[in-house]
Amino acid sequence: MLYEALEAQARERLPQVVFDYFAGGSGEESTLADNTAAWARLRLRPRVLRDVSSVDTTTEFLGVTLSSPVLVAPTAFHSLAHPDAELATAQGTREAGSLLVLSSRSSRRIEDVASHAGPWWFQVYVFRDRGLTRALVQRAAAAGARALVLTADTPYVGRKRRNRGDASLPLADEDFLANLEGLTHRALAEQAPDVTFADISRLSEDSGLPVLVKGVLRADDALECLHHGASGLIVSNHGGRQLDGALATADALPEVVSATAGRAPVLVDGGVRSGRDVLRALALGARAVLLGRPVLWGLATGGAAGVRQVLETLREDTAHTLALAGLSRVSAVGPDVLAPPRAP
Ligand code: FNR
Repeated sequence: MLYEALEAQARERLPQVVFDYFAGGSGEESTLADNTAAWARLRLRPRVLRDVSSVDTTTEFLGVTLSSPVLVAPTAFHSLAHPDAELATAQGTREAGSLLVLSSRSSRRIEDVASHAGPWWFQVYVFRDRGLTRALVQRAAAAGARALVLTADTPYVGRKRRNRGDASLPLADEDFLANLEGLTHRALAEQAPDVTFADISRLSEDSGLPVLVKGVLRADDALECLHHGASGLIVSNHGGRQLDGALATADALPEVVSATAGRAPVLVDGGVRSGRDVLRALALGARAVLLGRPVLWGLATGGAAGVRQVLETLREDTAHTLALAGLSRVSAVGPDVLAPPRAP
């Protein structure tokens, strides 16, 4: 894997409680482990004797053009990784030609991050206080977010095996509540467990922005999201941090792609760690992937430059993989690149 050495460096540098918060998953961590294993189970069927002297990884969807089909997944509290926090993440992502999905739980203010960012989307947790949520998405729109990403798999925060909740993290109140102006107590910033499909159109109306839904693992949910106006879907199990035992994203992706039938872009995250995994995701019909933990390792070890390097390494590995598979551009990837599953 591309990021093993970097993860080891981050582990040395970070307090153990922070490393465990970043690296860990919920329950027995079975979904966390299966995310990476499921990509590896997919065998590739390379083409030969195609001119691959130049490979174009450029990717376009929902009005953005990116240097590769790799985006930065929303992750909380970057001040735990680096003093420049999300400002550094935004800068490194911009310099790599990628797109940042900024977490609702960022430790720097939306407006400050926006001034360092290239194209970015804003990830939304619907909070118990719907007025607070509306104010937040309106701020994001005013600051230049090009879309919202509604995280749908977190009515409650999953119980992590290695950590006893966010309260155990070395986070100052001003970092914890950077975006939630006027809130004096952390408990008020809890997600709403009564969030439903109706929130998709509400968020879009409140912000004037397209809404993607993140955390979809089933065809019926995908159809319901589209029915309620979603502009895109992100197949995700929150990096194995919510319902442990949930299926790996590589295993969920085909049914969501098939239900969506090209009506909206489908993205995927969870355990993507190489250009081969990017190729596998594209072959299953994803338009792009999102990268979570490796970006945190880059941030912790090298700030903005570290984030940039993590993304450029994956872009370069994706180009190399495409070439070895006989493909000279992202849009040439099709399902034929995957071998039929082996008999068990
Ligand atoms: C996350 N994730 C996440 N998702 C989200 O929608 N909002 C958030 O604030 C967070 N916070 C968060 C913190 C940390 C430390 C991690 C590791 C993850 C989930 C994230 O967006 C993504 O789904 C996974 O991280 C992708 O899996 P990999 O690439 O980390 O395996």
